[in-house]
Amino acid sequence: MRRVIAGGSVVSPKGATPADVLVEDEQIVALAPGDSEIVASFAASADRVVDARGCYVIPGGIDAHTHMEMPFGSTVSSDTFETGTRAAAFGGTTTIIDFSVQRKGQSLHESLDTWLAKADGVCSVDYGFHAIMVDVNDTTLKEMDVLMAEGVTSFKLFMAYPGVLYSTDKDIYRAMDRASENGALILMHAENGIAIDAIVEAALQKGQTDPIYHGLTRPAEMEGEAVHRAIRLAQVAHAPLYVVHLSSTPALEAVVEARDRGQNVFAETCPQYLFLSEDDMARPDFEGAKFVCTPPLRPRSHQAGLWRGLRTDDLSVVATDHCPFCFKEQKELGLGDFTKIPNGLPGVENRMDLIYQGVISGEISLGRWVEVTSTNPAKMFGLYPRKGVIAPGSDADIVVYDPNARQTISASTHHMAVDYSCYEGMQITGRVSAVMSRGRLVVDKGAYVGAPGHGRLLRRGLSGHLR
Ligand code: URP
Ligand code: ZN
Ligand code: ZN
Repeated sequence: MRRVIAGGSVVSPKGATPADVLVEDEQIVALAPGDSEIVASFAASADRVVDARGCYVIPGGIDAHTHMEMPFGSTVSSDTFETGTRAAAFGGTTTIIDFSVQRKGQSLHESLDTWLAKADGVCSVDYGFHAIMVDVNDTTLKEMDVLMAEGVTSFKLFMAYPGVLYSTDKDIYRAMDRASENGALILMHAENGIAIDAIVEAALQKGQTDPIYHGLTRPAEMEGEAVHRAIRLAQVAHAPLYVVHLSSTPALEAVVEARDRGQNVFAETCPQYLFLSEDDMARPDFEGAKFVCTPPLRPRSHQAGLWRGLRTDDLSVVATDHCPFCFKEQKELGLGDFTKIPNGLPGVENRMDLIYQGVISGEISLGRWVEVTSTNPAKMFGLYPRKGVIAPGSDADIVVYDPNARQTISASTHHMAVDYSCYEGMQITGRVSAVMSRGRLVVDKGAYVGAPGHGRLLRRGLSGHLR
């Protein structure tokens, strides 16, 4: 099967170049000027020519942080792998990396098998897994090596959620020590969960139960402290560290300090920390619950620093931490007690569009948009150059992006299985026009033309981003 993506500007981290992209079966075979002989002869035998005139042609987005069907308290995130990967495709994301979640007493492999079964045969785009490690012991430390050999090369630990997902500094150090030997990348949810628990208890005792107190009881300093501690633990263990969903200036300062010392520390932020704020959590009539995630949304004053971090590469990835819960019946579990609100926001469909707004406003360059949403996550998580670049030999994961189209974000038109949008009514410029996953069109002119089950499990290599 042959396809040509014709007439567009191919974008890489270095910028945009006019070129046609030639695709054979699942892979890109060449990039060439539209008026070249190779394009003419290839187009003559092509099954389809995708018109990309006036559009950017970008490598498919890679969302390195999603939670489909994730249990949280008494409920489960509302997107399945089927609905979530379809929504991802609509938003120009052609790879997700989700998380298996280990329970205490469970082996890492058992938890991975549970998540492999959830995703098997239903995904519209390719997918991989990080493993969440909750029970760190001699057996599970050895098991890390087994998972590594199977292409699960990153492990997330939590300094938050005592009694649930939390790991002690000793456990964290031990996992990092193992990672320094086997080449794994440790991902850290960095918030001082022990101190936060005390602040939360005090708030509840004072009757402070509204959603805004979710944010006010998790101060940015508690994120900064935990990031700093994780960095020092990683330094002593000689392990690389990747801080997930970094939300605040104190946390970023700790990352900058470590990187300036030359330590292999990396961080991601998420669109919600760049576009939403603590004010949203304060919305009346419990609407603030729609914006409850962890770490929480911060005062707007943190946003300029995050954009700066994206420019300077102190933040190298934008992922979503997509973890949707419907307002009705799910977020509402926390009526009268903010600690019962399931934590997480929808966003897998909005990431490419939202970060493109940063290009329009001049916060980041066009090339940087592609770098932080696709190329860097591919490198960081052992998928490059199969993913994250438009080049001969790479998977034909390609998005045709119309930079001039206007759209209004709304739950009434999005494809995520959730009854609200955090960005309801936001008018934006730029829109996905066509999406190809390994050579197969998945979205064409706003319509789904993919197939659940087309998406394949990715066995990832080692992180290729060490300095
Ligand atoms: O609120 C969030 N972030 N929910 C998902 C779980 C996590 O910590 O990433
Ligand atoms: Zn987390
Ligand atoms: Zn998460």
